[in-house]
Amino acid sequence: MEYRKLGNSSLDVSVVCLGTWAFGGDRWWGYQDDNDSLEVLEDALARGVNFIDTAPVYGRGHSEEVIGSFIAQGKIREKVILATKLGLRWDGRSIFHDLSRKRMFDEIDASRKRLKTDYFDLYQVHWHDPDTPIGQTAEIMHKFYQDGIIKAIGVSNYSMAQIEEFKKYAPIHSLQPSYSMFDRDIEEEVIPFCIENSIGIITYAPLYSGLLTGKFFLDGAKIPGDINRKMKSRDLEEPCFSINKTTLIKLKKIADKHGKTLAQLALNWNFNQKGVTSAIAGARKLSQLYDNLGSTGWKLDKEDLTMIRDILAERFIEIEKVEEKV
Ligand SMILES: NC(=O)c1ccc[n+]([C@@H]2O[C@H](COP(=O)([O-])OP(=O)(O)OC[C@H]3O[C@@H](n4cnc5c(N)ncnc54)[C@H](OP(=O)(O)O)[C@@H]3O)[C@@H](O)[C@H]2O)c1
Repeated sequence: MEYRKLGNSSLDVSVVCLGTWAFGGDRWWGYQDDNDSLEVLEDALARGVNFIDTAPVYGRGHSEEVIGSFIAQGKIREKVILATKLGLRWDGRSIFHDLSRKRMFDEIDASRKRLKTDYFDLYQVHWHDPDTPIGQTAEIMHKFYQDGIIKAIGVSNYSMAQIEEFKKYAPIHSLQPSYSMFDRDIEEEVIPFCIENSIGIITYAPLYSGLLTGKFFLDGAKIPGDINRKMKSRDLEEPCFSINKTTLIKLKKIADKHGKTLAQLALNWNFNQKGVTSAIAGARKLSQLYDNLGSTGWKLDKEDLTMIRDILAERFIEIEKVEEKV
């Protein structure tokens, strides 16, 4: 496993971070057996992953609870770089932005209880709350940091302008944006900005919610029906389905050349992009974890990277044509 410094923080994180949204077992990802989640946590750590990402909203506290029970049981708190978030509130039906002062203090306490820890290595603002000034959010995050309850400050889903505003009031050690071979919006401005400002980037949905593994396109895996993932449902419908399938067939040839799977190719490509520190790959069972960890310990060469660039550019043009017609 390779480890990298997260921005200008004091944390050295594994290039594969374990994403645990699916551990929540909520309507986004469907049923998840806690025993599978616990097995994945244990094996991930044994195989060198030291970085775990969660959030209160994942399963309305359940993902944090599962990780908390694992940490307490194994007495392994110091071995884990634990990242969680704040800023979303929920009721029985809906999820709301809430970064009010009271909510921020209540959330950090609730997460500390669920995760059975006094501190978080990385604490991240999940989404900006349009009803709260960024300066107020940043000042409270800074207080948590100065009090030593959190070791690093992160933001997620922030635009460049929002990061710039936040930075006036508090340091930012990392950004968590969505980023994958099929979702490259951050490349033009956000990545260069983060490099220039020593902000680490931890990418979420690097497998594009599982699409980049090829299983829905090449292996006939059942397409999730009522489960609402990060990917656009359009990606699984014609004509995008065929465009994606063709792209994945081409990418698979490059993966095959290295004796790797598509998931391994997608993750390796992701965490080796300039500016990216770590890719947060969600794995809900051991077979997925083992597959994803095969993304480490090898490198794509220049020729591969050029071919990938061209394959993705061709897909982008085709998808744009479809989107123009919608
Ligand atoms: N900050 C944010 O707003 C935000 C948003 C989204 C995610 N995240 C974080 O990022 C993490 C990763 O994102 P993600 O879970 O959306 O997407 P992802 O890593 O792109 O996809 C993960 C899902 O793909 C499937 N999968 C994973 N490895 C596989 C493999 N080797 N072969 C076949 N299928 C595989 C699994 O679902 P199935 O088995 O059900 O197919 C898994 O839950 C989350 O867990 C969370 O920690 C953050």
